[in-house]
This record gives sequence, structure tokens and C-alpha cells, in this order.
Amino acid sequence: MENKKFYITTPIYYPSDKLHIGHTYCTVATDAIARYKRLAGYDVMFLTGTDEHGQKIEQKATEAGMTPQEFVDSIVEGKGGILDLWKLMNISNDRFIRTTDDYHVSAIQKIFKKMYDNGDIYKGAYKGKYCTPCESFWTESQLKDGCCPDCGRPVIDAEEEAYFFKLSKYADKIRDLLENTDFLQPRSRVNEMVKNFIDPGLEDLCVSRTSFSWGVPVDFDPGHVVYVWVDALSNYITALGYDNDKYDDYKHYWPCEYHIVGKEIVRFHSIIWPAMLMSLGEPVPQHVFGHGWLLLDGGKMSKSKGNVVDPYILAEKFGVDALRFFLMRTFPFGSDGNFSNERLIQTINTDLANDLGNLVSRTTAMVGKYFGGALPEGCKTYDAPESYDTELISMASGLRAAYEAKMEAMAPHEALAEVFHVIQRANKYIDESTPWTLAKDMEANGKRLAHVLYNLLETARICGILLIPFMPESMEKLFVQIGAGADIQDWAAAAVWGALSETATVVKGENLFPRIDMDKALEELEAAAEAAKKAALPAIETEPQLEEKVDFETFCKNDFRAVKVKACSNVKKSEKLLKFTLDDGTGTDRQILSGIAKWYKPEDLVGKTLVAIVNLPPRKMMGQESNGMLISAVHKEKGEEVLNLIMVDDSIPAGAKLC
Ligand code: MSP
Repeated sequence: MENKKFYITTPIYYPSDKLHIGHTYCTVATDAIARYKRLAGYDVMFLTGTDEHGQKIEQKATEAGMTPQEFVDSIVEGKGGILDLWKLMNISNDRFIRTTDDYHVSAIQKIFKKMYDNGDIYKGAYKGKYCTPCESFWTESQLKDGCCPDCGRPVIDAEEEAYFFKLSKYADKIRDLLENTDFLQPRSRVNEMVKNFIDPGLEDLCVSRTSFSWGVPVDFDPGHVVYVWVDALSNYITALGYDNDKYDDYKHYWPCEYHIVGKEIVRFHSIIWPAMLMSLGEPVPQHVFGHGWLLLDGGKMSKSKGNVVDPYILAEKFGVDALRFFLMRTFPFGSDGNFSNERLIQTINTDLANDLGNLVSRTTAMVGKYFGGALPEGCKTYDAPESYDTELISMASGLRAAYEAKMEAMAPHEALAEVFHVIQRANKYIDESTPWTLAKDMEANGKRLAHVLYNLLETARICGILLIPFMPESMEKLFVQIGAGADIQDWAAAAVWGALSETATVVKGENLFPRIDMDKALEELEAAAEAAKKAALPAIETEPQLEEKVDFETFCKNDFRAVKVKACSNVKKSEKLLKFTLDDGTGTDRQILSGIAKWYKPEDLVGKTLVAIVNLPPRKMMGQESNGMLISAVHKEKGEEVLNLIMVDDSIPAGAKLC
């Protein structure tokens, strides 16, 4: 019998900046679900990609001095870019689409033309508000305090000849889809959509632009480019081969089972997208799932707010699997959640190091210590089981069913809770069965001890299988340690108690999840975040020039002179000050104090010809008099102040006036 198909997608990401932990959350969640479905025997197609057109990308490219194509290439394919991030995070997508791919571009032109030919796209004039960062048109009534209702940023007035899509025509059908089916999940999102968009009356949607050119050209009307959301949403079908020859999977995989999307783009996926498909005469997706946001200090992460969390730093520090696990275990899928480094470390220490890590390391260590690494034959059964034996075996045997129910309900955090419930039960079982006491008399208790350890290995194996979608690499290591071969790591074997061979060879390996020192790790993370922030700063910064003018006569009152350094030393008890004895051409030595010790060693300055302003009133610093000021050039490099004394040619005599 052919496997049931399962098509699942993430949104396609904007390659306008480096991706952060919020984007990573969305992709890891989709990946865990896709891996679960593969494990459960489905024929899975998992699609992700990048959404590369639009005014925002065009602007960013101009700022970076690149063409839009060069710019998106650098963010998608460049070092530390989107493809690198998904590779690092072990994302198992079957396909990756870029909306600048030729096959997609020509398919979009066909899709647009089809909707035009069937009368659902018509030409009109667009007058309204546009949020450039979100690439969204809004009507006046949709604005929140005059700003974009999604991101809160100012909108601009936009007026241009444009094509419109007859979204209004589909209002009743969309309402029916939302209210009377389980198309949109979780259910709470339905009310949001109906109340905010359907009830006030769906307006036709502007689907072309003429004020910029970085988009798919409308081939029958030069000057127009296709609205970026029409272009982007269609990726879900063009990547299967709809209206193109690149792929031939449309018939097989469409309609998709799940579009996984963040809550702010549910509107596009649950209203505009099904209406477009209805217009094309194609089936609508089975489900759209709108997950919540990862928040930082209660607000959404965004590059412009400067509060993004870098997944590269976290994965490097704690490991990819620990990070994947944390994201899925901690935040109820569908709700917002507060991200913090403390929570991350706590989850790793409690669930992975203490509960799972200890279960595996204690069990394998005991099999090694008491039985030389392999249990004796006959350990699977025991004549007089304790009630806690029966309880553990029954919980582990029923785990797959409980887990499956949660995964099918799109509640991966609850599926993980089921697994950890059993892991915690197994650790308690160690305390109850006290293997170390049994080991004191191997002759009398050897059979009982072997049975206890077998039960623990078997529990670890079943939990390990169900954790594969979340921590694929670590589970491979776990199976090696408990001696479970590939044939008993699959979905079927997760529901069979006793599949592990009685005499399997156990290998005490490296600690799967080392415990993390919270204080030390927090400090290091802070330093890493600080360094990353600095690295992102513009290389060179200079002070803006003053607007206020100074008249020539006032300027001429400044007496600048060339001065020669006769002696220079640090000022006692001051980290900043250097004391200069200077020849200013008058025959009397001049003393100036200057706060430049951070940049110069005193001995390096002796003999140099510098510039000083000599008619400033005397000033006391650290109890010593300073008569004038040395002139320096100041700028910032990666946020750090850099100072250079102005040094002039040594042939210039002391006292020469600068004018
Ligand atoms: N390009 C559009 C999607 C087009 S799909 C046809 C887009 N791109 S995005 O890069 O801005 O966002 C991609 C996904 O990341 C969205 O689902 C968004 O909700 C998600 N996230 C971005 N920041 C997030 C958090 N802080 N938390 C959780 N998800 C977040 O939108």
C-alpha cells in the first residue's frame, strides 16, 4: 500500500536581514512535525524558501550598494546566511524555493494572467496607505493610530494605476471556510480573522505596483510588477510544478496538509491565499496553523528594535539539538512565549542533563559495572514483578499512542511532556528498585537486577525513538549507548515493549547533555551578544557636522600653534591623563594635560610636533595646571572611540601660528 502523503510548508523568509531565533522557531517546529510524519510512515514533502521581491529588498540593496539580486544572493547563500542556518539547525526540507528562481517567475506571470483572464483581476487606481517594511496596503480605517496595524510603523500615501483582485467576491466562501471547517488553527485565530477582516467587509486587493521594479513583471502590461504577496503565496504550488516544468508533483502533493505560519501572516494565508486558489479553480489547503511569537522582554524581536537573539550563538554554545528541543518543549505552539537565556539553560539542565541524560548514563554505567556491558539472557521477564515494574512498562508501552495524539493535534510541546513524564517515571523507578542494593548480592538478586536494567534500557529506547523528530543527532548517540540497532528505532518499534535484544551491548559513551553552569554561561552569552552588536555597527563613525555657523572674527580668536614635545609622562593616580612639557616658541615651557593615555605611551611622543590651542584659560586637572589643549582627530570604529593626535611636519618651528 502506498504511504499517505503529507505536504507541509514554512513561510518563505524575507532575505532582508540575518534570521533570528523567532524565524528559527518557526522552521524548527515545521521540521519536527515533518520528521514526525516521516517517522510515522508518511510520504512527506517539506518545503521552505525565500521571498525575495519587493520594495523593501530593493531599498536594502540600494543602501548596501548592490543590485537586488546580489543582495538577496548574499543573504540566502552567503556565509552565515539562510541556507547555512537551516543546515546548521538540521532542517530536513525536501525542497527550497527562491521567488527569484526562473521557473517561479514565469509561473507567477501565468497565474496572474489566468486570474486576469477569468475576470478576477481588473485595472483601477490605487489610493491608500502602504507600509513599506511589511509590504502591505491598508485602508485608512485599518490603521492603528495612523500607523501600520501589524508593525506599528508609519505608513506612506500611495496612489498609482494598479490591478485589483476581486477579493470581495470570495467573502462568503472564505467566511464559510473559516467558520465551518477546521481549515484555520488554532480555533482562536478564526475569530480574529472574521471579526477584523470579514465582518467589516472584504475589500478588493491591490495586486500590482508601478512605483518600483524589483518584482515579477506583469508580462501583458510593462511597468507593473506583481504584488509581492501574490508572488510569495504562490510559491506553495509553483514549488510542486504548478504552471512550470521544473517539478511534476502538483497532482500528488496538492492540496497541502499544513501551512505553518506566524500569527501576523495568518491573514494572508487564510483569506487571500484561499481566494486566489478559488479563483484559479484549485483546491484550498487542508489547514493553516498560526503559531505565536517568541517575545523578548514582552515585545516582538525585530532587527530594527535591536533586540534579536542570534541562533548561531546559541547553537554553538549549547548544541543544535538542545536548542531545537528547548524551542519545542518550552513554548506552547500557537501561543506567544517569552524567550530568555535563563529559561533555555534551565530547560537543558532539568530535562536534558538531569532527566534524560542521567537516565541513560546511570543505566549504561550500571550495565557496564554489574554485567560487563551486556545483560544476561532471560532478563526480559521476571516472575515476581513489583507494581512499579508494571507501571513503568505500561506507561512506556502506551507512550507512542499518547504522543501521536498530541502531535496530530499540533501540540508538540504536549507530546514532549508525555515523553518526559515517562523519563521522570523511569528515574523514580531507579530510586524504587535500588539497583546498587541488589548488586550487593548478585547470586540472589542478579536476575532481578538484570530485569530492572533491561526495563530502563527499553524505556530509554522507546523515548529515544519519539525524540528523534526533535533531537535527531543526539538520539543516534543514545541508540549506540543503549545498544539499539536501526531495526528497532522506527515507529513500529516504538509501540513494542521488549524489542531490544536481551543481550544487546551497551556502550557507556560521552555524556549526551552536559550540565551547564548558569552564571558562567549567562556571562559568556552577554559578552557574545555585545561582541555581535559591535560587529554589526558601521565600521567607521564620525560625529555629524555642526549646523550652527561661527563668524570669522570669532574663529580667528583661537590661537593655534605648533608645539614640540620636550617631555611627557603619566599623571600619578590618573588612568587618562598625560602631562606634556612643550616648547611653544616663547622661550618658556608650557604645560598641557591631555586625557589621551588610552591611546599613547608618553615615551612615543617626545620630540613630536603637535598642534595646540594656547589661549584657553588655565585649568586645574588632578591638582596640576593645564595651559591649553592639544588638538586630536576623533572617530569611532565598531563603536569604540579612536583618537589620533594631530602631528605636523617636524620642519615646522615651535610657535608657528596655524591659520
Ligand atoms: N515573507 C513573508 C512570508 C511569506 S509566506 C508566503 C514573511 N517573512 S518573514 O521572514 O518576515 O517571517 C517568516 C516567519 O517567521 C513568519 O511566520 C513569522 O511569523 C516568523 N517569525 C518572525 N519573527 C518571529 C518571532 N519573534 N517569533 C515567532 N515567529 C516569528 O513574513
